Amino acid sequence: MSEQRQAVKLKVEGFSFRYGDVEALRNVSLEASPNAILGIMGPTGSGKTTLLRSINRMNDLVPNARWEGRILLDGEDVYRPGVRVEQLRRRVGMVFALPVVLPMSIFDNVAYGPRLQGQGRGMVVEAVERSLRDAALWEEVAGRLKEPAARLSGGQQQRLALARVLALDPEVILLDEPCSGLDPISTLRIEEALKRLKQRYTIVLVTHNPRQAARACDQVAFLYLGQVVEAGPAGRVFTHPHRSETEQYISGRFG
Ligand SMILES: Nc1ncnc2c1ncn2[C@@H]1O[C@H](COP(=O)(O)OP(=O)(O)O)[C@@H](O)[C@H]1O
Ligand SMILES: [Mg+2]
Repeated sequence: MSEQRQAVKLKVEGFSFRYGDVEALRNVSLEASPNAILGIMGPTGSGKTTLLRSINRMNDLVPNARWEGRILLDGEDVYRPGVRVEQLRRRVGMVFALPVVLPMSIFDNVAYGPRLQGQGRGMVVEAVERSLRDAALWEEVAGRLKEPAARLSGGQQQRLALARVLALDPEVILLDEPCSGLDPISTLRIEEALKRLKQRYTIVLVTHNPRQAARACDQVAFLYLGQVVEAGPAGRVFTHPHRSETEQYISGRFG
């Protein structure tokens, strides 16, 4: 028992968020631990993206944004004075719904971060290969690293975006509907990569698709209208939901 218990890596405590008059999150509390994928599921507009963007402080500059509550990384509030946002974002990487690919080669896309960090050539080459392998893309691109990344398929571009995050050696990986534009095979590749990666990282996977949450996640939270309706181990939530809203959502009756 006790050796299986993992320290909480990321803890959201009573977090609320408003865009002016629009209340996007109300009193959200959640925990994510290493060696597990936390899924945040819910229909469009339920606040999933707002929550992810709040974790690595991408909402700081949104006009009229107001928030309260705490978001703790290793027990320390990411909003406390003195936090360097660039450093926070290196520790907490983010993959977006639409793959962000830089207009350069496959290699240079992944090398971009390590080079900015001042790593030498040997380390950069090593980081590129390791990250592409970890993102389950290496086999498909090893022979064409100098080609423009724009030539990759959508599914490959999304794994490239994941590789770019991995090359920065993050501690937490946030993914915002990373498979929403992908075919089922590409979706499965990403889910398989995440299942391997969870052994080394804390992963938060946002999805509007309850079936993906059931397949890929260990813990799940159902977010609806800005509030956590229910959270718990995926096995329990999907077989014995405590709330009727959750039951309706996972059976496809809304969302
Ligand atoms: N920049 C913004 N300005 C005003 N309202 C916003 C902004 N971004 C999101 N919202 C609103 O906040 C709510 C939650 O949105 P969002 O976090 O994008 O949900 P989800 O990712 O679950 O679809 C929605 O009502 C949305 O319209
Ligand atoms: Mg969203």
